[in-house]
Amino acid sequence: MHMAISVAVAGASGYVGGEVLRVFSQHPDVEFGALTAHSSVGDALGVHQPHLVPLADRIIADTTAETLAGHDVVVLALPHGKSAQIAAQLSQDTLVIDCGADHRLTDPGAWAAYYGGEHAGSWPYGLPELITASGHQRDILPGSKRIAVPGCNVTAVTLALQPGVASGVVNASDIVAVLANGYSGAGKKLETTYLASEALGAAVPYAVGGSHRHIPEIIQNLESAGATEVRLSFTPTLVPMARGILATVTAPLAQGVNVEAVRAAWEEAYADEPFVHLLPEGQWPSTAATLGANTALMQVAVDGNAGRVVVVCAIDNLVKGTAGAALQSMNLALGLPETRGLSTIGVAP
Ligand SMILES: NC(=O)c1ccc[n+]([C@@H]2O[C@H](COP(=O)([O-])OP(=O)(O)OC[C@H]3O[C@@H](n4cnc5c(N)ncnc54)[C@H](OP(=O)(O)O)[C@@H]3O)[C@@H](O)[C@H]2O)c1
Repeated sequence: MHMAISVAVAGASGYVGGEVLRVFSQHPDVEFGALTAHSSVGDALGVHQPHLVPLADRIIADTTAETLAGHDVVVLALPHGKSAQIAAQLSQDTLVIDCGADHRLTDPGAWAAYYGGEHAGSWPYGLPELITASGHQRDILPGSKRIAVPGCNVTAVTLALQPGVASGVVNASDIVAVLANGYSGAGKKLETTYLASEALGAAVPYAVGGSHRHIPEIIQNLESAGATEVRLSFTPTLVPMARGILATVTAPLAQGVNVEAVRAAWEEAYADEPFVHLLPEGQWPSTAATLGANTALMQVAVDGNAGRVVVVCAIDNLVKGTAGAALQSMNLALGLPETRGLSTIGVAP
């Protein structure tokens, strides 16, 4: 089946916008309409995204409801706060996919505590593999006209731990997640921290001590997967790589659980998932194997001395962590095969 799907991308000059253009370019049905941004309006796209050669001559337009109107799909890759503003002006007949945070949280109190300001309301959540009380998040996406794509760290930690939570083999009241993060996760910001002279050769923690904005979203997801009390210590660390997240997530083995039940829980949860893979026993994931691919690769072990389950999950923050999730969710919303146009093939070495 071939149908033309017109897609506008807002934030086309940024890291996520660029990756949306790269990933969606590989979808056989997608045709790009307006490409918009902010300070780069009037520039050729090639100035900001030189790797997107076929789109190099496209001129960046201003991000307005008028420019974005008339497309089948609008993907928003804007700073948080901006996407809710523009989405409110778009037709209810348009599928709007927001890569920002504005519509991910269901609890206005959590929004106020971590982001501040008024909560813009929650949208169907674009993590198809998320375990819900009645099945999976993919079951509710068909026909949706609004989708909130998860945060990249959230995807890594949720996918890492949800099999243990849903099966009851881990105790969710004492979760520790420490992440190694590539710099593209911070967006194209001009700040001293992000200069090569600061970044190369250094590993730098940030948002330490429970302040990271992805914390309430992870808790929301683990509750969706069946946890009743979630307590999470979450610490990301910038490491000298452009892309990728390696999340190491640990939680106590639940009381009375047999060690053999642990691997079985992850095997069962992901046996049929096209993009989430539990690696063969003893093989550990690396971010390199996920680069450019819509995959989450993971391994699970039991640290018997510590009494904890240890999961390591690798994703490309810009693909499974954002643009790939957006395309996977678009496919589901439009009734297309979930995997259409999405690759599990990474770039290595
Ligand atoms: N980076 C990641 O790994 C990642 C992963 C998941 C989700 N996200 C989310 O995706 C969104 C985009 O992130 P990013 O990393 O791509 O950031 P980015 O590289 O800084 O890009 C931001 C984009 O938004 C545009 N923009 C800035 N201010 C604007 C305004 N006032 N009105 C309209 N457009 C404006 C910029 O246009 P100009 O360049 O023309 O000014 C640029 O195209 C954020 O909400 C972020 O939290 C990021």
